[in-house]
Amino acid sequence: MKIEERNFTLKNGELAILFSPTTKDAQQLADYYNTVIKETRFLADTPEEEKKIAEEIIWIENTANAEKEFIVAVSVNDKIIGLGNIKGMTNHIRAKHRCVLGISVQSAYWKCGVASQIMATMIEYSKILGFEQIELEVCKQNISAINLYKKFGFIETGYRYNAVKYEDGTYEDLIFMQKDLKGELL
Ligand SMILES: CC(C)(COP(=O)(O)OP(=O)(O)OC[C@H]1O[C@@H](n2cnc3c(N)ncnc32)[C@H](O)[C@@H]1OP(=O)(O)O)[C@@H](O)C(=O)NCCC(=O)NCCS
Repeated sequence: MKIEERNFTLKNGELAILFSPTTKDAQQLADYYNTVIKETRFLADTPEEEKKIAEEIIWIENTANAEKEFIVAVSVNDKIIGLGNIKGMTNHIRAKHRCVLGISVQSAYWKCGVASQIMATMIEYSKILGFEQIELEVCKQNISAINLYKKFGFIETGYRYNAVKYEDGTYEDLIFMQKDLKGELL
């Protein structure tokens, strides 16, 4: 599905646009993601797992056609600098109330309020789509993201021991977090 385009001002004073990307943004999305995976070890993909434009086109088209999925991009000066997405957990009837969230921001724009705008939008649209809970997994050492999620009402519900093995051979646990949407007004 498509979200409504909005403008907002970053904490550094720059103007930003929040929107649903279309296939014309596929190259930009690939450039964005391939930059971000080199800036953090807290995303699933390593720098070697770069996205190709064709993969982004398929992702954008599939998401636009899916009833219960959406992408939220943020651009500054026509360049994508932040990205979030919501996707139904599975197609199983008994799991249709659950969705999963992904989020990232380019490091040059960290602490400018970009993720907060993306989170607020994803929560708003998840409720509109009828989801009852948003779920995610986050690396135990990813304090920025854990703080962000707690700020938006997510609680820790469990963890997976040694779920991530880094290229240097060290391991990291994943924390499970979720936000209950049922008790909140639209
Ligand atoms: C986590 C991430 C998305 C935060 O994005 P951001 O745009 O910098 O976040 P915001 O500026 O909107 O900050 C929102 C909240 O996040 C938390 N936060 C963000 N950066 C933080 C930091 N460096 N240290 C501690 N908390 C931090 C704070 O609670 C902050 O609220 P506050 O400003 O009231 O203190 C960003 O650091 C990122 O993209 N990291 C790499 C990718 C990633 O880890 N994605 C999540 C995978 S599970």
